[in-house]
Amino acid sequence: MAKGKILITGGTGYIGSHTVVELFNAGYEPIIIDNLSNSNISVLDGIKAITGHSVIYENIDCKDYNSLERFLEKHPEIVAIAHFAASKSVGESVENPLLYYRNNIVSLINLLQLMPKFGIKNIVFSSSCTVYGQPDVLPVTEKSPIKPATSPYGSTKQMCETILYDFTHANKDINVVLLRYFNPIGAHPSGEIGELPNGIPNNLLPYITQTAAGIRKELSVFGNDYDTPDGSCIRDYINVVDLAKAHVVALNRLIDGKNEKNIEVFNLGTGSGVSVLEIINAFEKATGVKVPYKIAPRRPGDIEKVWADTSLANKELGWSSKETLEDTLRSAWNWQKKLEEKNSVTNG
Ligand code: WQD
Repeated sequence: MAKGKILITGGTGYIGSHTVVELFNAGYEPIIIDNLSNSNISVLDGIKAITGHSVIYENIDCKDYNSLERFLEKHPEIVAIAHFAASKSVGESVENPLLYYRNNIVSLINLLQLMPKFGIKNIVFSSSCTVYGQPDVLPVTEKSPIKPATSPYGSTKQMCETILYDFTHANKDINVVLLRYFNPIGAHPSGEIGELPNGIPNNLLPYITQTAAGIRKELSVFGNDYDTPDGSCIRDYINVVDLAKAHVVALNRLIDGKNEKNIEVFNLGTGSGVSVLEIINAFEKATGVKVPYKIAPRRPGDIEKVWADTSLANKELGWSSKETLEDTLRSAWNWQKKLEEKNSVTNG
């Protein structure tokens, strides 16, 4: 008997799908709504290959209030929501801000408006280290100042956090955990699910694995004149399975009533900063595969360096990242190779 149904919005996406797997492993029944705007229905096959479960899924856009309401009417046993459904490309958000404000803000408001109607009291929200902007002091803690966002994507995450603070202030029976992700990378060790970027990848790791696979000619390193040891930007790259497990811990905390306040925020990172050039070297060392690259101009909107102080999540959630960078990079490469195999089978 499952411990309860958990609604995963955006559950066919990168972090959502890995969280679905970990929730099954923890004895819950995750159910998915996703409009497939940035994911593929084939992810459900991957989840089944790993867990043996055929997960309940409906193609629903969280911006569509009536469809969302009808879905919740069909599933009165939902005990919590993990809300991943959002647009997440920094670059795209600069070109198309209204798509980001409409999608990311309206989706959350619809969910919050419907939660009391269906007695759903718990929600874990997918936030981002982007809310910090370029911190003055590193590592960044949950109490670090929130600086003006450097992109509409970052603004939507800041706005959603504000909406959640105001909503939980007005509704004391609603419980929220905000999880501020640093840079999720890697794939499930089985190679059955992973990051599936549409078109040319924005993010570093999929661009590296596609370059290593010969799909891309070479990687452009966006700047090597930053104030960092090797001149390239520094980020805190966290294994996606470690990240997914943190969601299970956060959901348990809310469902079991262990939260101390009705809104809490946690950084989810490794606590270590790694530069772009170090990632390339670590990937080549971990996989034995060269990654041709060139130094290119800086990318507008990039911050120079950020990494997490993870002590609050370590202490309050009893969670810390476990996977090594090398194993994580190998998992990304393993996933890329499996993707090639799948594509070659389907393309004949
Ligand atoms: C990482 C570093 C680039 C591509 C964003 C969002 C964040 C999260 C992850 C959702 C930067 C450099 C990249 C390339 C490069 N989103 N890079 N060549 O921008 O840190 O974070 O994605 O969860 O909220 O803000 O991630 O992977 O795009 O870039 O040199 O082809 O790699 O300049 O320094 P980013 P990223």
